[in-house]
Amino acid sequence: MSRECTFLVVGGGIAGVSCAEALAICASNASILLLTESSIVKSVTNLVPVARYLHKFDVRETNVTDLSAGITTIVDQLEHINSSEHWARTKTGIIIKYRYICLCTGGAPKLFNAAKCEERIIGIRDTDSVLELQRRLASAKDVLILGNGGIASELAHELHDVNVHWVIKDAHISATFVDPGAAEFFQLAKSETGEELGAAAVTTAIKRMRYSEEEQLQQQSKRGAALGPDWHRNFDLAGGDAASSRRLPKVYYKSHIKHIEQLPIDGTLQVTLKHEDDSQEQLNCDFIVSATGVQPRLDFTTDVPLQLAEDGGINVDEMMRSNLCDVYAAGDVCTSAWDPAQHWFQMRLWTQARQMGAMAGRSMAAQFEGETVYQDFCFELFGHVTQLFGFPVVLLGRFNGQGLGRDYELLVRCTRNKEYIKFVLQQGRLRGAILIGDTDLAETCENLILNGTDLEPYGDDILNPNIDIEDYFD
Ligand SMILES: Cc1cc2nc3c(=O)[nH]c(=O)nc-3n(C[C@H](O)[C@H](O)[C@H](O)COP(=O)(O)OP(=O)(O)OC[C@H]3O[C@@H](n4cnc5c(N)ncnc54)[C@H](O)[C@@H]3O)c2cc1C
Ligand SMILES: *[C@@H]1O[C@H](CO)[C@@H](O)[C@H](O)[C@H]1NC(C)=O
Ligand SMILES: *[C@@H]1O[C@H](CO)[C@@H](O)[C@H](O)[C@H]1NC(C)=O
Ligand SMILES: *[C@@H]1O[C@H](CO)[C@@H](O)[C@H](O)[C@H]1NC(C)=O
Ligand SMILES: *[C@@H]1O[C@H](CO)[C@@H](O)[C@H](O)[C@H]1NC(C)=O
Repeated sequence: MSRECTFLVVGGGIAGVSCAEALAICASNASILLLTESSIVKSVTNLVPVARYLHKFDVRETNVTDLSAGITTIVDQLEHINSSEHWARTKTGIIIKYRYICLCTGGAPKLFNAAKCEERIIGIRDTDSVLELQRRLASAKDVLILGNGGIASELAHELHDVNVHWVIKDAHISATFVDPGAAEFFQLAKSETGEELGAAAVTTAIKRMRYSEEEQLQQQSKRGAALGPDWHRNFDLAGGDAASSRRLPKVYYKSHIKHIEQLPIDGTLQVTLKHEDDSQEQLNCDFIVSATGVQPRLDFTTDVPLQLAEDGGINVDEMMRSNLCDVYAAGDVCTSAWDPAQHWFQMRLWTQARQMGAMAGRSMAAQFEGETVYQDFCFELFGHVTQLFGFPVVLLGRFNGQGLGRDYELLVRCTRNKEYIKFVLQQGRLRGAILIGDTDLAETCENLILNGTDLEPYGDDILNPNIDIEDYFD
């Protein structure tokens, strides 16, 4: 059997669907074929702009038959590409002749491996699977969560009526997204939900520190502080009734699973944890939920080898082109190999899967029509909007000092249960920010980062709660 198309997009994740949809808009007369393993694909809904570079959206699962008109679909798996002759072959032997192909095959979960107890280890790809998971866990008493990214954080927050044991390799929770201070902000907020908050004094603290101080504090925490670095205790945060009766996840910091054994009586897993100081600890659980990230998924062959980056992703240039002729790639499967803008870096997230997918679509369409496109402006500034523990979270620029070495300062404003704002400053200029809560600062921060506005003259006032930062720069 054989098929023919102008554009072949492989993968029904956010990147693949965004690519196909961009093509349907930019090259509406051309034939677009989406090859997807599963008849359920992911698409973006409820897209709302938060600022110029930031969009909030939900990820929805849809039947492939409900995609935009103009996109034809085949449910099958890609097996081989002959890029010289412009055709691809699927698992079931369909030959697809294409003009341009885009690989959006995403990543495969790095599942924790344990022989013989696989059915008790659940890998999750994204938040959609959380509900399904809750169902499976209905009768469980103890569950162990492994991983420290967004999904593990959400899970630790969402699971109820079950003892949650959360095993992380870092010194603080949610390390993928936030810093120790924000982690503590979340933990205190969580321990207090349900309490009467109205009467509690709302105090705001502001602190400025240099990179070296932060490092010191991280060193301290390596020696076993329970809730992230101690500096946060200087704030009013540490008070409160953390030991409330609600069952909180038990967090095992700087730990990993050393050994798992399934008990013959009831199938319970007996897990041996190893801590950083080489001490060990044993616990029993019904399930292990593995949320430890993904690696690029390339389970197909090509006539000419694809050029891969160190992390295993397909190297792409700013037009999302790989080293093979007319072969593009987008989303988790690719690695940006272009010279990045000052305020952008790659992070494997829905946001970037969408942006890269759309960029690949526009780039392919332009190539086909003999037009010129430029890289989208979204690649000028890293931005991500998400929710953690029920709080809106905005991440901008080098929000954790990524790539800034030791040459930066942090300015933090924290109001318990309300907001956590962190500015990353370099030579008086804003390089990144974490905004938790309804801060209304996203657009201001975008401008400050992109314009390179000198904030030195404002000192700590820039985060003074009695001064409206927005007004400052209007
Ligand atoms: C546990 C976890 C939690 C996450 N939580 C968040 C979060 O809270 N927020 C966030 O922004 N991001 C999150 N991410 C990241 C986010 O899920 C990814 O960045 C995003 O889904 C990548 O989209 P994609 O389209 O590139 O790949 P995928 O979503 O992986 O889609 C790839 C598609 O390709 C298909 N495919 C693969 N190989 C083939 C083949 N050979 N033939 C045919 N089809 C194939 C797959 O079936 C799949 O449909 C999380 C990731 C993980 C692992
Ligand atoms: C697409 O096709 C329609 C009708 O067949 C035609 O009017 C239109 O000009 C075409 N557009 C492009 C971009 O080729
Ligand atoms: C998707 O829709 C088609 C046609 O409406 C249907 O046959 C198929 O079962 C649906 N797939 C799923 C997984 O719901
Ligand atoms: C596929 O590609 C290779 C090298 O690019 C070529 O030599 C080969 O003949 C092609 N065709 C087939 C059917 O393999
Ligand atoms: C920064 O640039 C934006 C857009 O170019 C402009 O609207 C804004 O006024 C500038 N802000 C500052 C603080 O310079």
